[in-house]
Amino acid sequence: MNKTNPKSITVSCDNESLASLKEKQWIYEDALNKYDRLKARGLSLDMSRGKPSPTQLGFSQPMLSWTSANDFISIDGVDCRNYGGPSLGLSEARQIFSWILGTSTANIAVAGNSSLALMHDIIAFLMLKGSPNGNKPWVKSGQISFICPVPGYDRHFSILESFGITMLPVPIIENGPDMDTVEQLVFEDPSVKAMWCMPKYSNPTGITYSAETIHRLGSMKTAALDFHLFWDNAYAVHHLSDKSVFIPDILDVSATAGYENRAFVFASTSKITLSGSGLAALATSDQNLSWWQSHSDLRSIGPDKLNQLRHARFLKVKSSLDRLMESHRSVLAPKFNAVVSTFHRLLGSLNEVEWTEPLGGYFINLKVPTGCATRTVQLAADAGIVLTAAGASFPYRKDYKDCNIRIAPSFPTLSQINDAAEGIAVCVRLAIAESELE
Ligand SMILES: Cc1ncc(COP(=O)(O)O)c(C=O)c1O
Repeated sequence: MNKTNPKSITVSCDNESLASLKEKQWIYEDALNKYDRLKARGLSLDMSRGKPSPTQLGFSQPMLSWTSANDFISIDGVDCRNYGGPSLGLSEARQIFSWILGTSTANIAVAGNSSLALMHDIIAFLMLKGSPNGNKPWVKSGQISFICPVPGYDRHFSILESFGITMLPVPIIENGPDMDTVEQLVFEDPSVKAMWCMPKYSNPTGITYSAETIHRLGSMKTAALDFHLFWDNAYAVHHLSDKSVFIPDILDVSATAGYENRAFVFASTSKITLSGSGLAALATSDQNLSWWQSHSDLRSIGPDKLNQLRHARFLKVKSSLDRLMESHRSVLAPKFNAVVSTFHRLLGSLNEVEWTEPLGGYFINLKVPTGCATRTVQLAADAGIVLTAAGASFPYRKDYKDCNIRIAPSFPTLSQINDAAEGIAVCVRLAIAESELE
């Protein structure tokens, strides 16, 4: 067995009792033994990204045998084989997103297969072309800042980093972002032009914004006249319990407050049908939609309408969507439950260790004592369990307390998840035991 080198033990405090030192030493040696046994198992598991498992992809297998040979005309008479057609997407594809988002089809565009690409493009349009209400391009406006609730989605932050946009982290608390801080920042600072929001089953905390938080976001006063909410509703229908969480429609809320153009809402079927070949959508005000269309129409002669039609044939009525999401839940919920129950069993007695128990979405956020996240992730990697890099869910990859670890239980099998959750717990215990000896 390839044993881990024991740490040399140093006395950090002269008056520390010998008994307490001995206890820490014993805890450390016990944790190290367990870790060596974990390593000897030679696991090889990847829990770094929130990918659907092959079983989940199989639920959409009928889409792969649908043939367009005699079925290529849309409900509006569009020949889906050809160039052109409606640049907001086929009516039947927009209908699918109306079910997902609870928004009127008139305010929905279906475009491409990636909502992240839509987010990226809208930021690029705002940077280069100016905002829907006629404000000048952000590249000509000096410093541009985004509020970034943390922990958050690493790819959101990478987009901002690539554009040189300043990221202002604001903590996520029980009901969503800390709204007192958000309201103050947007009110005082005209460089704050936007905010990332994952209102439902957030990545990675699983937290859902309360109705009050959503009303405050939709109605808050902002110094920037071209302020926007980037409302990434990626997990709108991805429930893990039989309680389907409901949130108010931000488009309605902000329009009622007099800020019709405030929100760009995003969703996709990446975690509904086929992750690599899904549909993505933007829902927003009439004015924002025309603005988006005026720019995006330049970059393509038309969307992939056959994929839109293929989705419409598969998800014919809302109940087919509901049934599909129920199938996903039947596979995902036991995996989440396995992680949560293992953490309760093996980590429940530890101080400053806690985790989220989401009612939906794809992630669990594990919090460990300050300074222990990077070491835990490293120990896990050395034992064959790949986790998302520590710090990834923070702007510039800087989790200043080094205490958050994102757990993505969707891809491995249930028995692998059991192994991985136990393994992670062993690594957490060793990382803490090591830190206590320093
Ligand atoms: C919050 C969030 N938004 C967007 C995405 C990516 O979506 P898409 O596949 O539509 O680009 C993910 C993927 O994990 C996500 O977690």
